[in-house]
Amino acid sequence: MSQPAPPPSSSRPAPVPLQPLQPLSDTEIELRLLMEAIYLKYSYDFRNYTATSQKRRVLHALDQLGLPSISALQERVLRDPSLFGRLLQFLTIPVSEMFRDPAYFLALRQHVVPILHTYPSVKVWVAGCSTGEEVFSLAILLREEGLLGRTQIYATDINPASLEKARQGIFPLEAIRGYTANYQRAGGRGEFSDYYTAAYEAARFDPTLCADVIFADHSLATDSVFAETQLVSCRNVLIYFNRELQDRALGLFHESLSHRGFLGLGSKESIDFSGYSDRFDTHARAERIYRKKAA
Ligand SMILES: C[S@@+](CC[C@H](N)C(=O)[O-])C[C@H]1O[C@@H](n2cnc3c(N)ncnc32)[C@H](O)[C@@H]1O
Repeated sequence: MSQPAPPPSSSRPAPVPLQPLQPLSDTEIELRLLMEAIYLKYSYDFRNYTATSQKRRVLHALDQLGLPSISALQERVLRDPSLFGRLLQFLTIPVSEMFRDPAYFLALRQHVVPILHTYPSVKVWVAGCSTGEEVFSLAILLREEGLLGRTQIYATDINPASLEKARQGIFPLEAIRGYTANYQRAGGRGEFSDYYTAAYEAARFDPTLCADVIFADHSLATDSVFAETQLVSCRNVLIYFNRELQDRALGLFHESLSHRGFLGLGSKESIDFSGYSDRFDTHARAERIYRKKAA
């Protein structure tokens, strides 16, 4: 029997030349390799952070650490965990302040606290709490509104050094003037100076404010939900994430929130255009406060 003839060569698909999906600069390639190395070695996942701000931070780290290139940094990071600890301070941006964006805290006071009052107990998750300024602000607000005594706060971050500072509740005295103005604009009901003791260059905040705060290591990039909450405050964190990672974090918040729970974001953040835009109602648009829709 004769074999079937092979198809004419003209009908074979033309070979596709091997090409990267999109052209990347050498710096972008080095950055990706650095983030991959950090993930594989230390399990910190920075792979889905926005590239422009990540590049700026890594270049700043190179400058501060006296290293000539991102590849040199990768080499050092792989072999020196203490250098990774230093790099983490550059990668995480622990910038914060008390009652940051006072209108946000005023809106919580006026439009969220009255609803939280209807619950017998309240759980609040401050995700990306950094050095604790947001946590102390919320604790002061909740105490003034008569809710702190029945509120459990979970304050989480990926930066252990920031969490340790947050636990101490000591902030630079030079920042207090600005914090006092923020507190007043946030509808503060008392004297801000009643909440801290000044000593030398520092203000030590009343530790009873944090009696029911659990500070814990938790990554929005790799960890899962750990509690049911009525309010999630995650401010100035999603801004550093790409769309995929923002959706992951919003998914965690949605899962954590109880029926009709509240979500507060930073002034430059929004759930619009995310995969969760239809899962929340807007509660206070300008202040970026959302409320989980009924299932
Ligand atoms: C700019 S600070 C915001 C602090 C505070 N929420 C505020 O608005 O003032 C961003 C914080 O997000 C934290 N962060 C970055 N990536 C994170 C992640 N994957 N999971 C949890 N926290 C993260 C950083 O360590 C840093 O403390």
